[in-house]
Amino acid sequence: TKLDVLNKELSLRNNRNPVEAIKMRIKTPLSIYKKLNGKGVDFSIENIDKYISDVAGIRVVCSFVDDIYMLADCLANQDDIRVLQRKDYIDKPKKSGYRSLHLIIEVPIFLVQEKEYMKVEVQFRTIAMDFWASLEHKMKYKKDNINQEVISDDLKFSADLINQLDLRMQQIRRKIDGEEE
Ligand code: GTP
Ligand code: MG
Repeated sequence: TKLDVLNKELSLRNNRNPVEAIKMRIKTPLSIYKKLNGKGVDFSIENIDKYISDVAGIRVVCSFVDDIYMLADCLANQDDIRVLQRKDYIDKPKKSGYRSLHLIIEVPIFLVQEKEYMKVEVQFRTIAMDFWASLEHKMKYKKDNINQEVISDDLKFSADLINQLDLRMQQIRRKIDGEEE
């Protein structure tokens, strides 16, 4: 809801929607179990709270890289939101070529008697980065593929092309908007 409100306000102000799509998912109990198992701890409410920060996950897909930082800052600056962690894989991509901006935030949930903070992992990425990440994710699930090394190299190469394309598209938009010569 907070992201929807930001998107509406910013689109009225700038005449374009910074958010292209928002996807949400709740981690399944099985997936939570596997993740805790991988960390070598028991399946319990306390351990979920302590060790897993992405039970609630939101993916924000934008057209442009500058919109990602603008939106993330707007969200992080809201005074009822606590930012626990910020990982900028756009500035420092993963070895795989993965790019996205990750925030782990805490959002207050107002219950009848009390207020409880809930952790949410928010991933910001461009349409092109999202496209790349889905294909790369597919490869990770098919580890038996004999061409794995070639595919990984190809993906890494494509990730860099995507980055160049994203920056070019941003420059073009800025020219159209008269923000830049
Ligand atoms: P987790 O144990 O998965 O939480 O890893 P982490 O604590 O190191 O968190 P990180 O922020 O690095 O990544 C968490 C999420 O980002 C993953 O669940 C994926 O959705 C996404 N992600 C991170 N790296 C990659 C990658 O190389 N490829 C793809 N496709 N997605 C990635
Ligand atoms: Mg994580």
